[in-house]
Amino acid sequence: MIDLRHVSKSFYKRDAFVDAVNDISLTIARREIVAIIGPSGCGKSTLLNMIAGLYMPTKGNVVYKGTVIDDVNTDVGYMTQKDNLLPWRNVRENVAFPLELAGVAKAERADRANQVIEHVGLQGFEDRFPTELSGGMRKRACLARMLLYGAETALLDEPFAALDAQLKLAMHDLVLRLAAENGQTVVLVTHDLMEAVTLADRVLVCTRRPATVALEQRIDLKRPRDVLNVRFTNEFKELYDTLWERLRLEYHEERV
Ligand SMILES: Nc1ncnc2c1ncn2[C@@H]1O[C@H](COP(=O)(O)OP(=O)(O)O)[C@@H](O)[C@H]1O
Ligand SMILES: [Mg+2]
Repeated sequence: MIDLRHVSKSFYKRDAFVDAVNDISLTIARREIVAIIGPSGCGKSTLLNMIAGLYMPTKGNVVYKGTVIDDVNTDVGYMTQKDNLLPWRNVRENVAFPLELAGVAKAERADRANQVIEHVGLQGFEDRFPTELSGGMRKRACLARMLLYGAETALLDEPFAALDAQLKLAMHDLVLRLAAENGQTVVLVTHDLMEAVTLADRVLVCTRRPATVALEQRIDLKRPRDVLNVRFTNEFKELYDTLWERLRLEYHEERV
């Protein structure tokens, strides 16, 4: 589905080059859920931006279903790290925005938006504006909008960072259920190793900037997964420990 071929990305900033991504090659299968974890500032969002076709690689190619991406990739739904709701629209109008662009009639838009708004637990807030919501609520509105867009591939950039533990579990369950139901391919960037192991078929640990893949770990926990109980199994613990052993090196080096 997604094929990164020797992808590197540098930015030119204040008379100097910043290398964000260095020679990453990666193949993501249709319906696979891949989690990318790594220290802050290592290049994770840059990687998603390239899959979304918002940034072009400096070297290498991003290939999506056999075609080199050279423009915005409209086959992906992208939940960016920063929430980008339109401030002059209420929750319902924000969530329904993709349907509006697709020319869906107003009544149907509202119906379908209300449904996903309920899925993310924002019922009762349909008429509120983004400034009236907490950070976690805005994130959930972004998630609802992405779900409604219904793309075959979902890119999620630290989507649940602002949520409390209970809500996070509910959102994990929702994402797993909907991804399975709709046969979606998911690329998830996260800081949360527990989240990565709970959700993914494969976890990639990135090095500090520029990002390269330090460790690739297959997560063979059976599906469907119980997002709460899976973490108490021995298999989960072993996977978590293996990943943490590698991940902590990147954080340790950061402090030195
Ligand atoms: N549009 C941009 N222009 C210049 N530098 C950028 C841009 N986007 C990202 N960077 C730089 O690239 C590096 C990686 O950023 P990013 O991909 O956002 O990291 P992460 O998501 O892992 O925290 C950082 O040093 C950041 O400052
Ligand atoms: Mg980021």
